[in-house]
Amino acid sequence: MSWEESTRQKMLHLKLPTDPRWVGIAEMQIEDILVDHAYCEQKAASSCISLIVRFNDLEELVDTLTPLVAEEWGHFERVMDQLKKRGMKFGRQRKDEYVAKLNDFIKKGGSRMQQLTEYLLLNALIEARSCERFKLLSQHIQDDELKKFYYELMISEAGHYVTFIELARKYYDPEKVNKRWQEWLAYEAEVLKNMELRGDRMH
Ligand SMILES: [Fe+2]
Ligand SMILES: [Fe+2]
Repeated sequence: MSWEESTRQKMLHLKLPTDPRWVGIAEMQIEDILVDHAYCEQKAASSCISLIVRFNDLEELVDTLTPLVAEEWGHFERVMDQLKKRGMKFGRQRKDEYVAKLNDFIKKGGSRMQQLTEYLLLNALIEARSCERFKLLSQHIQDDELKKFYYELMISEAGHYVTFIELARKYYDPEKVNKRWQEWLAYEAEVLKNMELRGDRMH
C-alpha cells in the first residue's frame, strides 16, 4: 500500500471531513494560519513534555516522546522561517477553541493508565485533524513552497498520530482503547460541526 493510500485510510477515521470552503479562506489569511500553526507546534511539543514529566516511570513512553518533542520544536522553527521569509509577524496566541472543547471531553478520575489513555487519544486526535488540514493545504494552495512544506508536515503528523494510538494500546486494554477512541472521534466531529468556519485558525 502506498503512503498516500495508508494515510488516506487513517484519516478516514475522522468522522467529519473539513468543510471544503476552509482551505480557500485559509489561503486568503495565510499569515493568521501560519501564526496559529506556529502555536500549534509549540503546544504539541509542550504536551509531549508534560506527558514525559507526568509519566516519567513509563520507559517506552519517555523514549518515544523524547524525540517527538524535538521534532515538534523543529516544526515550530520551520513555521517561524516561513513567516520570516514572507515578512510576516509572529503575532499573539489566540484562544484555541477547538482544543479547549476537546479538553472538556477528558474523563476525570479513573486509574492512572485511564488518565494516560485520555491524554494519548486527545493528542492522537489533534494530530489526525492537523494532518487532514495540512493535506488540504498541500493540495489546494497556490504557493509552491508552502505546498511542499505542508506535504512534509502531513507525513510527519500522520506518524505522530500512529505513535499516540500505539502507546495508548500498549499501556491500557487495547479493546477499551479502541472503544474510547470511537467516542473521541464522534465527539470531535460534533465539536467541528458546531464551530464557526473561519480561515484564521488551523482548526
Ligand atoms: Fe508538528
Ligand atoms: Fe505532531
